[in-house]
Amino acid sequence: MDERKLLADEATYCSFGDTVHYQEPPKIFDRCEGSFLYDAAGTPFLDLQMWYSAVNFGYANKRHNDALKRQLDRLPQIASQYLHKEKIELAAALARRTEAAFGKQGRIHFNVGGSQSVEDSLKLVRNACGGKSLMFAFEGGYHGRTLGASAITSSYRYRRRYGHFGDRAQFIPFPYCFRCPYGKKRDDCGLYCVQQFERLFDSEYHAVWDPKAGSAEFAAFYVEAIQGTGGYVIPPPGYFEKLKTILDARKILLVDDEIQMGFFRAGKLWAIENFNVKPDIVVFGKALTNGLNPLAGLWAREDLISPEAFPPGSTHSTFASNPLGTAVGLETMRMLDEADYGAMTMAKGAYFLDGLRELQTRHKVIGDVDGLGLALRVEVCAEDGFTPNRALVDRMCEVALSGTLEAKGKRYGLVLDIGGYYKNVITLAPSLTITTEEIDLALGLLEELFRRCAG
Ligand SMILES: Cc1ncc(COP(=O)(O)O)c(C=O)c1O
Repeated sequence: MDERKLLADEATYCSFGDTVHYQEPPKIFDRCEGSFLYDAAGTPFLDLQMWYSAVNFGYANKRHNDALKRQLDRLPQIASQYLHKEKIELAAALARRTEAAFGKQGRIHFNVGGSQSVEDSLKLVRNACGGKSLMFAFEGGYHGRTLGASAITSSYRYRRRYGHFGDRAQFIPFPYCFRCPYGKKRDDCGLYCVQQFERLFDSEYHAVWDPKAGSAEFAAFYVEAIQGTGGYVIPPPGYFEKLKTILDARKILLVDDEIQMGFFRAGKLWAIENFNVKPDIVVFGKALTNGLNPLAGLWAREDLISPEAFPPGSTHSTFASNPLGTAVGLETMRMLDEADYGAMTMAKGAYFLDGLRELQTRHKVIGDVDGLGLALRVEVCAEDGFTPNRALVDRMCEVALSGTLEAKGKRYGLVLDIGGYYKNVITLAPSLTITTEEIDLALGLLEELFRRCAG
């Protein structure tokens, strides 16, 4: 592999608009297996972000690869107006599991990617709410980069160049307790933030509610139960329950974006199950196919998505519910039936979190450590343990990707992802198949990384 030639061709022929180079020059990987990526020199890089949680079941998972090969040899392609059994079986498996979680009957609707499925959910919501087009969403929320999805994503950065195509969401502060937007303390705040949201409905003058008509101007609230790009922020107990009560009373739908946190990242099929709330719509993607095929979709309550409510052709994409993707997704559902991913993920997550908390005792620059299942966060700060320290995290990522860390006399790299409102949070999403030895290796490499970079 002539890396120099490849990078020169990339610089000439590839749009940079569809990617981001976090490193210069960008790293080229050659092979993957389990929790590791390997470069051309054969250096193992322990991946602690697994393609932003798309590869929950480990790289090159044999179960998924075999399912793909079997489908490739039997029915690899077919137009979506004809049926194939994998689509139906996958929809049934997802709908039954979701019904078991929320006690509500619903249907599954497929598309090719997370953003496209968010777009589909916007149509579903607008259709169900008589064409209302205004949405609430969270500060720090991320829902994708198509025009509709970026209108409900908090970062203006993703909209700045392109003007407005639809209505921008009204962004509400997320319960980010380490940096409480209201300056409160988690233990005695009485969920002040959700009280502030409820205040919007106590008079017509807060611009969202008509008390005479008993009608909100807003159709839905888009949430990530645990913020992904926002820095794996875990809300306090009770928050979502109270939020849902407020929304139900105003006939505002709750759309739960599980694209990053779904499929047991946080110890449950859907992360929101941890918070005792039943959403009206769930959007999923990424780990459904373990990153092998662009397949995503949504689940919605029957009354929102029945064929009478949301008729044939309401959305369409050539590759939606393609046979290769649905076959791999179905294998994921079989795997989830065969093992207790909930217990496994919670146990591994607790072990990893303990190790991170210990790491925090040795490094003042670690301001906050938290986690639920294998969605873990390490917030990197200045010596005061609070001021965001983006420069340090950038340095750590560069060293991690240089492949020059050492454990037991062997060279390693680390693949890390940065998130958070101030780009100072290491968001850890290791493979759900990670072993105890690999967690120990990760903790050892992180220790070395902090020692090398933070001094
Ligand atoms: C929570 C969340 N929503 C939506 C998306 C967009 O999904 P996709 O990149 O597949 O379009 C992502 C992707 O990172 C995500 O994490």
